Parts: sequence; structure tokens; C-alpha cells
Amino acid sequence: MRVPLVDLKAQYQGIKEEVLAEISRALDGMQLFLGKNVQAIESGFAAYCGTKFAIGVGSGTDALHIAIRACGIGPGDEVITVSNTFIATVEAIILAGARPVFVDIDPVTQNVDPSRIQKAINKRTKAIIPVHLFGHPADMGPIIELARTYKLKIIEDACQAHGAEYNGRRAGSLGDVGCFSFYFTKNLGAYGESGIITTSDPEIAQHCRMIRDHGQAAKYHHSLMGFNGRLDEIQAAVLKVKLPHLDKWIEERRRLARLYDSSLPPSIIKPAEMSWAKHVYYVYVVRTPDRDRLRDWLETKGIGTGIHYPIPIHRQEAWRAYGGDNYSLPVTEKMAGEILSLPMYPELKKEEIATICECLHEFDNSSSKR
Ligand SMILES: Cc1ncc(COP(=O)(O)O)c(C=O)c1O
Repeated sequence: MRVPLVDLKAQYQGIKEEVLAEISRALDGMQLFLGKNVQAIESGFAAYCGTKFAIGVGSGTDALHIAIRACGIGPGDEVITVSNTFIATVEAIILAGARPVFVDIDPVTQNVDPSRIQKAINKRTKAIIPVHLFGHPADMGPIIELARTYKLKIIEDACQAHGAEYNGRRAGSLGDVGCFSFYFTKNLGAYGESGIITTSDPEIAQHCRMIRDHGQAAKYHHSLMGFNGRLDEIQAAVLKVKLPHLDKWIEERRRLARLYDSSLPPSIIKPAEMSWAKHVYYVYVVRTPDRDRLRDWLETKGIGTGIHYPIPIHRQEAWRAYGGDNYSLPVTEKMAGEILSLPMYPELKKEEIATICECLHEFDNSSSKR
């Protein structure tokens, strides 16, 4: 048996006719950008997150870059974030001309440790970007307090957290602005590149709309320097079909996570779900000090795994030009050596999880005999 890390084909079969009909309608109409489908996903996703506005953009990277600029952040400013993220979080800060400042993470949630943020704040600090990594929200209460005290913006990197909740409120509605990716493997994924920004601030929303469309509010009247960061109608049509299914798919992921939780061997640390959180399991990430050997073992059994992410950003070669290798983030570094993502997608079968867990137990038994 082969179990991949992600399988997108099964989901597509269930919605194929509807998706193809919507794409065909978009092509028949030949309104290929900023038309009815974009409006539909913008209003649908804003309602889903509980924000007043949503602005469709070309990718999650665009969402972050545009949101940072729309908050008035640029050269000379610092933005606090984490180093255990997909590099786009940091790219977006740098694209906006600002400087990323890393703080270490909490080993349980693997998200930013709020108790470490205050020390990193200085007069250049303009924003905090908490990343709701793996689909579990960051501990937003203390972050919101700090942002209030020091008058900082909060830009949520919710690219992995569609539908995740903090004390009953959805990711994307907790800070000043939320940024989502619709990369095809995400809990809500398009069939190409796209993303969305959520906010209830009308000024930020208008600024985002202009930046994503060459800085124009009216055609060829460019009041600021933007770029082409628009969401296209065909991706929006796909997303419009998928959005009504999102909660059901999340519930499936949560059900599968419970199955894993109750079947893992004791040597493997399962992902935490804090009392204030709703985890949406974009990825199901376990921890073990013997990660690399376990990964190879699972590979021989036909089980696909991933590492999200093996090298923290402050240890990446690309970072050298932007501050160098001068951070000490011991929790981030330890986690990078221990985390392993197991197969997770709504259509994954109960029997497949049972087989994966049997392999994990076998590994556990063989390790304890070594
Ligand atoms: C945490 C995080 N931030 C940003 C991004 C960037 O999104 P995109 O790939 O759509 O540009 C991703 C996507 O993989 C992500 O996981």
C-alpha cells in the first residue's frame, strides 16, 4: 500500500462537474479578472472569517506583501515574526523594504512565544506577524495586548489556517489584517496560484485593492506604486465552488487527527490543540528525536511524509544578505530537527491511518530493542 502525504485527486472527483461548469461559464463570459467570481469569493470569504472585507490577490506571498505595505510599513521599519515558517513570510517583509526580526517559538504550539516578543520591540518596530503554523492559531491574546500597548499592527499569516479559531474567532479576523494562501494543497486551495487578504479596516482594504491593481482606483490613474497582484476569475471560480465544502473538509481532518492522536506509539509526540484553539490540521505534525530514521523507515513502507520546515529562515543561505547567521533560536532549531508531517487530507481512509500507526509502532518496538 502507498499512502501519499497529500492526495488531491479524490477531492477533485467529487466537485469536478461543478468546477468545470464554473470555469466554462467564466470563459464564455470572457470577463477574466476582477469580475463576478472574484467578488463572490471576496464576499464569501470575508463572511466566513467574520471580517468586513476580503481582497483577492495572486498568492499568499502577494497577500502578505500587499498587507504589509497597506499598513504603511516600509524602509527603516522592523517587523517581528518567527523563523520557523515558509520563507514567504520573510520575503514579504523584505519585499516591502522592512527588516524582519525573529523571536523564538513555544515548543508546544510551535507558534511564536508571546513572552519573548516584548524584548524584540524598539522604536523602529511597526508590526507583529504571527504565523498560525500547521493550522493551529498563535496565542493571540497576549499578542493583541502588546500591539495595543506599543501601537503595533498585527498582520496574521493565516496561509495555513483557513477556518482555524482562537477563542471562537476565526483566523484572519484577529489582527488588523489577515493573509491567506490558496496554494493547491491548502485546506482551501485553488487550481493555480492565488490568495486573499481579510480586514475590517476600510482604509487598509482600499489600500490593498489599489496596491494589487497597479496602484489605481480608476483606470490609468495611478496614485501609488503597486503591481499586478490580482486574483484571476478562473481561480476565483474554483474557490467559489470549494468554499461551501471547507467546514466539512476541516471536520474530516479533525476526525482523522483524533484517530492518529489515539493510535500513535508513546515515543511520538502528537500535535497539541490548546484549550483556546481550533486546529484545522493543514498538516499533522508529530515530533521525535529520531525523525530522520523514522522518515526513511516510513518511506520504505510506502508512506509519504514531509518536513515543514527542515531549515529555519535564519539558517537559510538567502538570509545571509539580510542580517546573517547571528540569531540564537534554540527552540526553533530543536523543532526543525524533530518535526515530521504524516499523511493528512480529508479523503484519507481510517484503514490507512491504522496502517501508518502500525508502522510507527513497529518502528518504536525495533528502536527500543536497539
Ligand atoms: C505560512 C505561509 N506563509 C506564506 C505562504 C505563501 O503563500 P503562496 O505560496 O500562496 O505564495 C505560505 C504558502 O505556502 C505559507 O504556508
